[in-house]
Amino acid sequence: MPKPLLNIENLSIFTKSQKIVKNISFSINPGEIFALVGESGSGKSLTALSVVDLLAKNLKKSGKITYEDTDLSHSQNIQNFRGSEIAFIFQDPTNSLNPIMTIGDQVAEVLALHTNLSKKQRKSRVLALFDQVDLDTDAQMLTRYPHQVSGGQKQRVMIACALAGGAKLLIADEPTTALDVTTQKQVLELLLDLRKNQKLSILLITHDLSVVKLMADKVAVMHQGEIIENRDKAEFFKNPKEDYSKELLVSLPKSSRDQTFGDVLIKGDKVKVYFPIKTGLLQRTTDYVRAVDEINFTLKQGQNLAIVGESGSGKTTLAKAIMRQLDLHDGFVSMDSKAIKSYDRKSYAAKVQIVFQNVTSSFNPRMRISQ
Ligand SMILES: Nc1ncnc2c1ncn2[C@@H]1O[C@H](COP(=O)(O)OP(=O)(O)OP(=O)(O)O)[C@@H](O)[C@H]1O
Ligand SMILES: [Mg+2]
Repeated sequence: MPKPLLNIENLSIFTKSQKIVKNISFSINPGEIFALVGESGSGKSLTALSVVDLLAKNLKKSGKITYEDTDLSHSQNIQNFRGSEIAFIFQDPTNSLNPIMTIGDQVAEVLALHTNLSKKQRKSRVLALFDQVDLDTDAQMLTRYPHQVSGGQKQRVMIACALAGGAKLLIADEPTTALDVTTQKQVLELLLDLRKNQKLSILLITHDLSVVKLMADKVAVMHQGEIIENRDKAEFFKNPKEDYSKELLVSLPKSSRDQTFGDVLIKGDKVKVYFPIKTGLLQRTTDYVRAVDEINFTLKQGQNLAIVGESGSGKTTLAKAIMRQLDLHDGFVSMDSKAIKSYDRKSYAAKVQIVFQNVTSSFNPRMRISQ
């Protein structure tokens, strides 16, 4: 048995009135990817935050957390390790980066904090790190601000920061959830690469079992604050022990080959959504932004249809056209074989619902969730 890099023993997390995380134990070996999965609210993020002592002030923890031979339960120890031995990346890299500092400087700052390199050495080390995480290494990239790079690139900058401090353990809380599928795959492959070439250990938090399948060595399932199952990945997928884990596995989207579907529900025929470009004194339309240009699709009852594409490719515009929030420039969308235009707005809205990317802005901040 190798000696674990991180060992968590009997960890509990409490509010004044409630125990949220309940006596969990697990360990992560050097070079291992340990996936912590479970439904929303099961306690995954709190577990991760407690390792680096970043729990909210109203929460208390008990139990023992050991990193190599050091007891991290004492916050002085964890402060020495945070950012150097142990790094973390979150779902939304935007909040972790400083908006008024270039991305090159942010990586250099970590080097200044955790190494004795000279300014010149730091500069070349930043370039090497950019190269390692597949970011362009030209001067132009280094001097960009966070808002000038894509979500995937921001996450790469965060990974570069983690490597700059020399971390051996990376805690990654839903690191790719906010990224499109293509970028998600690239970032996950980068992490696999770092594990292979640098022996980086990763505590990977995700609710996506396909990510677990691709990445993990071990899987622990969290449910209502407890770890109900902790096993090797292959065993977990072959023969999950707990009923709850079986349910989780059943909820994995099946490939459409295994399923039969009902009648055609929504059909799009040569759908075009154009936004006019108006110029001149008379604001005449002189050209169009062709956001959606001749798209055909069918969605049957019970089927999931994924529209995949890079940022700016027109996915949301198409969704809005299906919702009748935008008019078609040309083409035809039908629902139950009737043009969507022919439904009155209210009955149409009752049939089709949209869920947005950013849940925060979909809620009214002055109303309680139950309202
Ligand atoms: N500061 C806090 N005070 C009180 N309760 C909290 C606090 N932070 C989180 N919780 C509660 O603790 C529980 C676990 O939260 P946690 O963020 O760990 O869930 P999670 O498994 O990461 O979920 P998700 O998949 O949605 O990120 C939730 O019920 C949450 O509402
Ligand atoms: Mg979470």
